[in-house]
Amino acid sequence: MQIVRKTKKTEKNSLSILLGEADEFAREGTRINIANPQSMADGIFGGKYLTICGQRMLDCSRLDYLGLGSNIEIKKIMKRSIDQNDLGCPASQIVMKTESTVSLEKKVAGLHGMDNSIIFTAGYPANENIIQALGLRMNTPHLVPYVRDTKMGLLSRETPTLFYVNTESHFSIQHGVRLAKAQAPDRCYGWIYKDTEQLRNMLQKSKSKFNGSPAVRVIATDTLSSATGRIFDIQELCQIAEEYDCLLYLDEAHAMGVVGQSGCGVASALPDFGNYADRCIVMGTLTKAFSHLGGYVALSNAKLSWFLRFCSPQYIFSAPIPPWMAESLVRTIDFVCGEEGAKARRNLILLSEVLKTALEAHGFDLMGSSSHIVPVRIGNEQKADEVKKYLESRGIIASLFKHPAVPRGEALIRFSVCTDMTFEEMEEITSKLVEARETIQF
Ligand SMILES: Cc1ncc(COP(=O)(O)O)c(C=O)c1O
Repeated sequence: MQIVRKTKKTEKNSLSILLGEADEFAREGTRINIANPQSMADGIFGGKYLTICGQRMLDCSRLDYLGLGSNIEIKKIMKRSIDQNDLGCPASQIVMKTESTVSLEKKVAGLHGMDNSIIFTAGYPANENIIQALGLRMNTPHLVPYVRDTKMGLLSRETPTLFYVNTESHFSIQHGVRLAKAQAPDRCYGWIYKDTEQLRNMLQKSKSKFNGSPAVRVIATDTLSSATGRIFDIQELCQIAEEYDCLLYLDEAHAMGVVGQSGCGVASALPDFGNYADRCIVMGTLTKAFSHLGGYVALSNAKLSWFLRFCSPQYIFSAPIPPWMAESLVRTIDFVCGEEGAKARRNLILLSEVLKTALEAHGFDLMGSSSHIVPVRIGNEQKADEVKKYLESRGIIASLFKHPAVPRGEALIRFSVCTDMTFEEMEEITSKLVEARETIQF
């Protein structure tokens, strides 16, 4: 069948407005280098080596920290889970809950010493939905009609949620706060802080501003910064949360599977985390060290867990990860927490230390990284673009971070170390970066 297209050419219509903007974005976005994928791999997606324009590259942008993406045992686990289940997704977790999703909920909660968790399709929606839910609570748009027609939430309707967000937190957390504030500006306040002294001052000030009236206070932070590889002082944040009666929202996306003896992240490695667990909501993703899809928050209070899932739009209106993947994840988590995972973690730590020591010996600024995420400060964005291209021309792919992922003028190149890399490859990264600095002068 032939479709006749009837778009008036001269008048501004919806399509031409959008296309005009798209043209402009393509032109300007290409000029400032934000409108293209940073690297484009040919052919099969194949672990640590990728082919780009026919050349074999070492992929240091990969977040498969334990190398499970190419692990034969994990592939067997996945295949078995696929054989035992249908491939489709249930409608949504509010309509249909599968046994494997419930098993996964228990499994990920257990990683943090908690009893409850809420599963999402990735880390981003976990952050965005739960932060938004903490901000809006019963004022989340899909609940508003019910709240209006009943007396639900009458007692706490005027009680604000106050957020105190670490400036280095992932965009998904900051966006969740913005979404909540946009819906309820008079009820939901966001603060951004840089250090714990500043945080204490803000908490103190907000106490007097709200005149001692009740508020839900939420401190939110990554535990391990995705940009700088810094591990934050979660012990101190737990104490501050206790002192100022706050909830503590911890994003462990890059720590899960990697940090701690069993790979259970920064918070649960604290000797006295159990004392603070009741006021903590711990977020994790299954897309990085676990090499699957999925994200979650874990918490100890069953009623709060139940409440937050109903306040999360994606939980209600979108499909979950497929049951075969939930089942595969339960087995993969056992693998990661066991001896194989421990061996992979030990090697990862060793490789990361070798790379950081070599780079520091050459005078590079590693921005306080204390993990397997190794950034190199470049500063100037244009130079950072050039460094990225130079490395690529020498067979190394790294991630480029520019504003708004990092503050303006703080562009960096991030190398993420994975356990299946070699010591020779750590040397190669170092020598190519030294060459790049001589050529580009950063
Ligand atoms: C700190 C942090 N939190 C959350 C996310 C989102 O996780 P996902 O990629 O699983 O959506 C990322 C993504 O890289 C991240 O770096």
